Amino acid sequence: MQGLLDGRNVIVTGAGSGVGRAACLLFARHGAKVMALDIGLEAAQATADMVSAEGGTALARACDVGDAAAVDAAVAATVEAFGWLDVIYNNAGITLQPRAGYQGVRKFIDTDDDEIERIYRVNVNGVINGCKAAIRQFEAQAREGRPGGVIVNTASVAGLIGWGGSAYGSSKGAVTLLTKTLALELAAQGIRVNSVCPAGMPTNFLPGLQTSDAAKASMGATHPLGRPIDPMDCANAALFLASDLSSNITGVNLPVDGGLSAGIPPRR
Ligand SMILES: NC(=O)c1ccc[n+]([C@@H]2O[C@H](COP(=O)([O-])OP(=O)(O)OC[C@H]3O[C@@H](n4cnc5c(N)ncnc54)[C@H](O)[C@@H]3O)[C@@H](O)[C@H]2O)c1
Repeated sequence: MQGLLDGRNVIVTGAGSGVGRAACLLFARHGAKVMALDIGLEAAQATADMVSAEGGTALARACDVGDAAAVDAAVAATVEAFGWLDVIYNNAGITLQPRAGYQGVRKFIDTDDDEIERIYRVNVNGVINGCKAAIRQFEAQAREGRPGGVIVNTASVAGLIGWGGSAYGSSKGAVTLLTKTLALELAAQGIRVNSVCPAGMPTNFLPGLQTSDAAKASMGATHPLGRPIDPMDCANAALFLASDLSSNITGVNLPVDGGLSAGIPPRR
């Protein structure tokens, strides 16, 4: 089978779990060489080992996306290992951790400043750092006769509509608008920028999400299609946006949300 990413070199952040791990596996199945970055080296290495076990090519590296110098170094290491960079998938993200005794979505007023800073550092600065490092690399490659490049971000349906908490939602709103503004800024250089906007996924994102059948069922019930989002649903969307299938698409925030952001469903 011809892979959609044959000959492409790809960085995935947050690669040690959930969407990032699914994307590394799928991208490698489609021929990409993958640099799996995660704040946890063991988790990133486990993903790279899974790719290798399937016959794909992946390296793992510890990288905190909130640390611009670490992200620059990870891009340099990718180029050193693979020769050049084609795609960065800025996927790493975090949300508020549950607070003991607190029921439901945390109110903004009950969210501490350091919790908001922590979310913004990863979800906003992490994407900014990934975009900047990749753009610098893409521009250097263009000067050497290899123009273009692709940026895919993971935002959230919470970056499209009011959903979930304000701290998290506003951080993802920054990602969806950065995706559009950057897409316009970089279009003349042939660099495309799009995002995947997932709704509820039972991953390691929130403690307990991945284990409890009741939590999965109740998460599914809030989506018009009736089931939670699978990390591979997002990986499939990211593959489309990373590949030439979407070569004339930029500035799009693609919902992978079972219809959640489409509007208010009719009463049944
Ligand atoms: N799970 C959901 O319900 C949901 C919904 C909408 C959007 N999202 C978004 O999808 C993306 C992936 O989430 P997931 O569900 O796969 O979560 P996950 O927790 O399963 O995986 C996220 C990975 O990111 C890594 N990570 C965390 N902080 C990091 C940092 N500073 N630097 C590098 N890596 C870091 C974690 O170690 C983990 O391996 C995130 O951007 C998240 O905001 C998730």
